[in-house]
Amino acid sequence: MRVLVIGSGGREHALCRSLKLDPQVSEVLCAPGNPGIERYAAVYPVDPLDPGQVAELATRLRVDLVVVGPEAPLVAGVSDAVREAGIACFGPSREAAMIEGSKAFAKEIMKAADVPTARARACTTEEEAAAALDEFGAPYVVKDDGLAAGKGVVVTHDREQALAHALTCDRVVIEEYLDGPEVSLFALCDGSTAVPLQLAQDFKRLHDGDGGPNTGGMGAYTPLPWAPEGLTEQVMREVVHPTIAELSRRGLPYQGVLYVGLALTSKGPKVVEFNARFGDPETQVLLDRLETPLGGLLMACATGELGPDPVFKQGSAVAVVIAAQNYPVAPVKGDVITGPQGTEHAYVLHAGTKWADDDVVSDGGRVLNVVGNGPDKESARQAAYDLVGRIKLRGSHYRTDIAR
Ligand code: AMP
Ligand code: GLY
Repeated sequence: MRVLVIGSGGREHALCRSLKLDPQVSEVLCAPGNPGIERYAAVYPVDPLDPGQVAELATRLRVDLVVVGPEAPLVAGVSDAVREAGIACFGPSREAAMIEGSKAFAKEIMKAADVPTARARACTTEEEAAAALDEFGAPYVVKDDGLAAGKGVVVTHDREQALAHALTCDRVVIEEYLDGPEVSLFALCDGSTAVPLQLAQDFKRLHDGDGGPNTGGMGAYTPLPWAPEGLTEQVMREVVHPTIAELSRRGLPYQGVLYVGLALTSKGPKVVEFNARFGDPETQVLLDRLETPLGGLLMACATGELGPDPVFKQGSAVAVVIAAQNYPVAPVKGDVITGPQGTEHAYVLHAGTKWADDDVVSDGGRVLNVVGNGPDKESARQAAYDLVGRIKLRGSHYRTDIAR
């Protein structure tokens, strides 16, 4: 099986690495890729947001499966174009991807499917926004309706700041604040059925101790030894199955991964957000632990033939994000990165890098993901941070408390 991965970040690097380990996969190709991915896959230039270009590339390369990494190509209709070209695709259609592309649509689906989530109002005027803020009270949660790369959500006690954010968006969802730890559960879906991966946790805030602004994610780990018994089964029953059934009922069969972001509140798990793709950096740790060969699993989703639940290896994985100076505001790019690519129990995944002559340089906010593994969380954490400490990138920073 020849597999083409679309994307250029740490998640795609992890996908290519795991696909390469699947004996059923004869070749991994990636577009547009990055310097780290080139160790596993031939890379090709492409505009990932141009469905015609991606379908044409997949046809020319004679691939059997296309795996779409990020959300923007999904919302642009890349999966639809690939399937129309007669090639299997892992990733929901443009319309089904609106579960991530529009927070208001996601809320509508959850309401119809009776999925536990925060009460919410979609607002388009200042009056509506102000009324919703007062209805739910502080802390205020204000979400840009559309895609915003993890930066469209403001959670604050300051009503003025909440309203100001609402006014910068065409349409906002204002909702009730959900208290409690957050966890991520990814379900692989084949259009009619779904199977879970294991639970992971992401660290969204910039600074240690969950301070600073929200980011795309500063680190992750899996599994979660403290998670309540039966949580995965409960979320599959109360969230995943009803959601994909509701989408099917609307003529939008869901093929790909449904990312469920949850808050474990005192009243049970509630959905904070859905995404239509693998989470980043949770995928990096999940794939480290996945034992079931990835290519076969993703192909089964694309062809409606999902089998039993995927199997995970014992032990833990921890990912630490090395971010560029000034991330997330205005990340500095173009600085040379040096240091080892791996140790016995840790390795580097490239998230925002490019070649500059013979050097690899920073080219994004989240530059590298360092993944460590071991028999338990503490050893995985140690392995990751030992390698992090050996990588040099001027002005870079990282959280020191991932998985602590
Ligand atoms: P989202 O893009 O919807 O995942 O929101 C980004 C982050 O904002 C989440 O991971 C949460 O940390 C926070 N957040 C979103 N919605 C809520 C909510 N209803 N209550 C509390 N925190 C939230
Ligand atoms: N880890 C958060 C995200 O992928 O949206």
